[in-house]
Amino acid sequence: MVSLTINGKRLSVEEGTTVLDAARAADIQIPTLCNLEDVHQAGACRICVVEVEGARNLQASCMLPVREGMVVRTNSGRVRRARKVLYELMLSDHPRDCLTCYRNQSCEFQELGHLIQVWDFRFEGERSKTKVDASSASIVRDSGKCILCRRCVTVCNEIQEAGVLNVQRRGFHTVIAPAAELPLGSVNCANCGQCVMVCPVAALRVQDHVDRVWEALADPAKRVVVQTAP
Ligand code: SF4
Ligand code: SF4
Ligand code: FES
Repeated sequence: MVSLTINGKRLSVEEGTTVLDAARAADIQIPTLCNLEDVHQAGACRICVVEVEGARNLQASCMLPVREGMVVRTNSGRVRRARKVLYELMLSDHPRDCLTCYRNQSCEFQELGHLIQVWDFRFEGERSKTKVDASSASIVRDSGKCILCRRCVTVCNEIQEAGVLNVQRRGFHTVIAPAAELPLGSVNCANCGQCVMVCPVAALRVQDHVDRVWEALADPAKRVVVQTAP
């Protein structure tokens, strides 16, 4: 077992535990965004940063294993300021059209903004080009809403083993897409929908066929059969 202190609370946890998990076990909440418990740990967003006594830089708690005698602060002024800036930078390259967004009120990015109290757009700059790919029968990709958490990449490659979604290009131009940025409808996607399930925003969503169903129901020449998707 490893002993450490988080926010003045002395804890003892198993070796190999991350600081995030140690904090959660002690009911200390650290905000996260890219992390998905038991599925995806990539350290991509840095929202979960904490201050560790003796360390020069803030550390991503979801990737940081506990060490004997560690003293951690999860909510100091320095941590709160850093979290806010990280969030605001992500927001500066986001469409911010919440009112008409498919994920309004069920969006993890929106919820996080409330939690860390961001009420302003402080940073304006170049925006990534929005590219909507509706070529698939069941999934719509909207790259302009992607926050590059890479959850979908992990799920598609490591859990579903479909190998469809991957990181394409680099830096500011990074996008999550099939190889060569081919349309999703033209590649070997299994339409399992697992990537949609883990996406924290509306960058991946299910195709909405409700209007077509209404039309079919109103057509007396059609017999309508309803089948649920997997
Ligand atoms: S639907 Fe399944 S196979 Fe297709 S991109 Fe998403 S996770 Fe990969
Ligand atoms: S598409 Fe969604 S799950 Fe995939 S990286 Fe972008 S925000 Fe994350
Ligand atoms: S939640 Fe830890 S880096 Fe994203």
